[in-house]
Amino acid sequence: MKPVTAMASAIFTVTGALLCAVSLQALAAEPGLGQREFNTRCAMCHGTSARGDGWMAENLIRRPPSLRHLKKNNGGVFPREQLARTIDGRISIKAHGPSEMPAWGTIYKSAIATAAGGPRGVREEDEINISYRIQALIEYLATQQD
Ligand code: HEC
Repeated sequence: MKPVTAMASAIFTVTGALLCAVSLQALAAEPGLGQREFNTRCAMCHGTSARGDGWMAENLIRRPPSLRHLKKNNGGVFPREQLARTIDGRISIKAHGPSEMPAWGTIYKSAIATAAGGPRGVREEDEINISYRIQALIEYLATQQD
């Protein structure tokens, strides 16, 4: 690689990283993102105030639990890490049988892939976007503990 090309590619890499950091900050600064995520993706089952009384709750075999006791049930520490893994589907929350609780990481990803209209796959920035939305959602839930 010629020095000039190497330098150009280094500049592109740095610019890419900066752009990423900027958009992450923009997301972090966006107020209400976590609440919006919750209202559109969780509230139908868990209820708008996270008490397990969403409009879909009646029709499920297992009632969605209240999400207001997560901190209390975890010895007073809000379980951020575990929650992230539950939401993106890495932890199966029910020991037996299929979970009625959707794995949101997968749903976010397929939504992105469909929107892209083809087999472009999920790019790194999509992954970052997804985990950021999940993170915002978790921070919102942290404010909803009894
Ligand atoms: C289709 C209904 C439905 C939706 C939508 C849904 N959940 Fe659930 N959720 C459930 C059910 C039902 C359970 C109980 C476990 C089971 O049956 O799999 C549960 C369990 C949970 C648990 C475990 C609670 C505990 O006490 O251990 C967490 C955390 C959770 N959901 C968070 C969320 C979040 C955050 C969202 C939105 C991203 C969401 N859920 C969307 C139905 C849903």
